[in-house]
Amino acid sequence: MGIQASLRREHRLAVAGFATAFVLAGGATTAALTLGGRNAFFRPAVHQPISFNHRKHVTELDIGCTTCHLTVETEAFSGLPDADLCAGCHLEPQGKSEEEKKLVEMLKKGTALAWKPLFRQPAHVFYSHRRHVIAAKLQCRVCHGAIADTIAPPVRVRRLVMDDCVSCHRRERVSTDCTVCHR
Ligand code: HEC
Ligand code: HEC
Ligand code: HEC
Ligand code: HEC
Ligand code: HEC
Repeated sequence: MGIQASLRREHRLAVAGFATAFVLAGGATTAALTLGGRNAFFRPAVHQPISFNHRKHVTELDIGCTTCHLTVETEAFSGLPDADLCAGCHLEPQGKSEEEKKLVEMLKKGTALAWKPLFRQPAHVFYSHRRHVIAAKLQCRVCHGAIADTIAPPVRVRRLVMDDCVSCHRRERVSTDCTVCHR
């Protein structure tokens, strides 16, 4: 099953989980919490300091991913951009949007932009961007879908499930030993 199909499946499971929890609601709220461990629907909504628009920057302004995700080709973590990077262009307004006005204010005051991670594996899983982007030469969209065309951040944590990793490894004849990914 492809990764996108699997993300869709996760969504369907989330909806099914919601129906179940709904039936159980009243006296059985812990059922929803247990489901919430794996279930995107029950993960709390995440609000970013600024509603960042990938499509505007990547597709319209043609800014490359590595301009903002500085370590995606050199480290395990991709990195998220800090306020200085945005200040390179946004100390003065570039347009008329309200969201940008809010950003310009924050940058002038020196407020940090504390982005919340949205796409993170549990601590027992080892994953490296450098390995997948450089050694395996995989495009970002293979795992992150159409993020370059989104106009606002996703509101809930998303992640690949084990089967996404293992089925590609099997296809590509990469090791599927448990200890490769679990350290
Ligand atoms: C101008 C800066 C900028 C550029 C260019 C940029 N990003 Fe981002 N990216 C951000 C910021 C800020 C966040 C955190 C807020 C959010 O989630 O939208 C983020 C978050 C993300 C996330 C985590 C959100 C999630 O879905 O879990 C992914 C994945 C991502 N970017 C991928 C990409 C890819 C792939 C590209 C190139 C096609 C790219 N980004 C280009 C600034 C940028
Ligand atoms: C290389 C220059 C550049 C960088 C770096 C940059 N931007 Fe922009 N940004 C622009 C331009 C140009 C626009 C377009 C203004 C318009 O058309 O309204 C824009 C538009 C925006 C808007 C309003 C557009 C919308 O649809 O929401 C926001 C908010 C924004 N940027 C946030 C950020 C944040 C946050 C960062 C840092 C992670 C960042 N930008 C980095 C150049 C940049
Ligand atoms: C093989 C799948 C795969 C590919 C290809 C991939 N990523 Fe990721 N990405 C992940 C995983 C898995 C995570 C979660 C990492 C973790 O928790 O250690 C992630 C997380 C991220 C995040 C979020 C970091 C955070 O702190 O929230 C960004 C941004 C990101 N990737 C950008 C990129 C960019 C840019 C590319 C292409 C240059 C790319 N990724 C290619 C699987 C991938
Ligand atoms: C679309 C295919 C694909 C996906 C999805 C993928 N990988 Fe990989 N992975 C590869 C390839 C190809 C390599 C070998 C890269 C190389 O040549 O070094 C690799 C290598 C690795 C390695 C190093 C293996 C070793 O023997 O040292 C680890 C660890 C790893 N991946 C973890 C993960 C995890 C965790 C995930 C899911 C979050 C994941 N991978 C998802 C294709 C993938
Ligand atoms: C290619 C990478 C990869 C390999 C190989 C791998 N796993 Fe995983 N595993 C993951 C990822 C990613 C997760 C987290 C999935 C999630 O959060 O949904 C995970 C989660 C788990 C969990 C937690 C279960 C859960 O649903 O959260 C267990 C237990 C586990 N793996 C056992 C194993 C065992 C046993 C093996 C060897 C037979 C193995 N894994 C091989 C990537 C891998």
